[in-house]
Amino acid sequence: MAARTFLLALEVNGVPIEVAAPAHYTLLEVLRYVLKLTGTKQGCDKGDCGACTVQLDGEPVLACLVLAAQAQGRSVRTVEGLAGPRPHPLQDALDRHGAAQCGFCSPGILMSAEHRLRTAPCASREEAAEAICGNLCRCTGYTKILDAIVEVARAGRAPEGAGDNEATGAITAPSEGAGE
Ligand code: FES
Ligand code: FES
Repeated sequence: MAARTFLLALEVNGVPIEVAAPAHYTLLEVLRYVLKLTGTKQGCDKGDCGACTVQLDGEPVLACLVLAAQAQGRSVRTVEGLAGPRPHPLQDALDRHGAAQCGFCSPGILMSAEHRLRTAPCASREEAAEAICGNLCRCTGYTKILDAIVEVARAGRAPEGAGDNEATGAITAPSEGAGE
């Protein structure tokens, strides 16, 4: 018997989209299997690893725990929506610091860190660690990831929407040596 489908209308990375999706699909399944946006990773599928982190109406969520129907009429941002004409400063920084080994965790970390830089101070390693506390990395030990996030935070860059990757002003006044 064919799976029951429903019409899902939402905005993905700034683009209005309507798709027929199986009624039981999660947001992660719609992104990866229907829309072919495979930048968002499928790890544990149980809410444990953070690999599936996307932003729903600007807030980080675990896409494996969100039913696609819950995204009806809402705005979703994935890692594919992070870069503009140039990579996002966080992407640049992860690359420069060699902070991705297998890279499986990187999309989720980017979406969590971008939200933190946009919404709250993140100048210390503790604050950066707090920002990505739900994102597991099996490879790096986090040192280079935190170096990269703190560097971007201290440079005062908190890009707003997709495609806007220019400096937009100070995020916070970094305290000298905080958390180092
Ligand atoms: S795949 Fe969603 S938290 Fe692991
Ligand atoms: S770089 Fe491999 S899981 Fe993080």
